[in-house]
Amino acid sequence: MNKQTPNFYNNKDLIYDEIWNLLSRGVVDRSEEFRLPTVILNDGKFSDGRIVVLRGAFKDINTIRFHTDYRSDKIRILKINNNICFVFYNKKRKIQVRIKGTALINYNNEIAKKAWVKTQVISRKCYLASNPPGTISREPTSGLSKELEGKNPEINNTEIGYNNFCVIDTKINKFEWLYLASQGHRRAKISVTDNNNISSQWITP
Ligand SMILES: Cc1cc2nc3c(=O)[nH]c(=O)nc-3n(C[C@H](O)[C@H](O)[C@H](O)COP(=O)(O)O)c2cc1C
Repeated sequence: MNKQTPNFYNNKDLIYDEIWNLLSRGVVDRSEEFRLPTVILNDGKFSDGRIVVLRGAFKDINTIRFHTDYRSDKIRILKINNNICFVFYNKKRKIQVRIKGTALINYNNEIAKKAWVKTQVISRKCYLASNPPGTISREPTSGLSKELEGKNPEINNTEIGYNNFCVIDTKINKFEWLYLASQGHRRAKISVTDNNNISSQWITP
């Protein structure tokens, strides 16, 4: 095999490991492109995509996590249809990963509480807007009160944001991986059963 191809080029087990490696890095490394996936939802009529920050990647339970405002449109859509799709791309490594799964909304429960405690003030500010995200405004607005604009409040003054905070956990049932290479692209799909059994197949790129 050509020396320039990575170890995973012809090895589905290593592809699976590489996907989780990138997801795990995305959670902790701000410069990792897998940190900012596009999340696609569908309310039965339209599909809509938006960027989120990847906040958790749990290989043992095949689950990935992001945080959002409980009042946001995402929650309305997820309550209608909890099928969820993520798209990731790392430009340098030329790896695209598409993930499909089912989403669970954690609101005002142990999971949300644990995540909230670890959340920094800068992130908590997103949950301090008095109007729900998406509310129409006559004036240009950040949604924040004048006292909060351009400032970071004391952490004790951010607790109210917990009422708007939730954690979305996605139980993954399918990965689709695409690697772009001049030697020939590679594409594979990996399915995960409810018991976390993995099966994978090569597919034509
Ligand atoms: C770099 C970046 C990171 C973002 N991270 C999040 C996030 O972690 N959670 C979130 O709800 N929205 C996040 N957003 C905002 C969403 O993309 C979206 O605009 C917002 O959540 C409203 O979406 P909705 O109307 O579909 O609910 C982020 C946007 C950008 C550009």
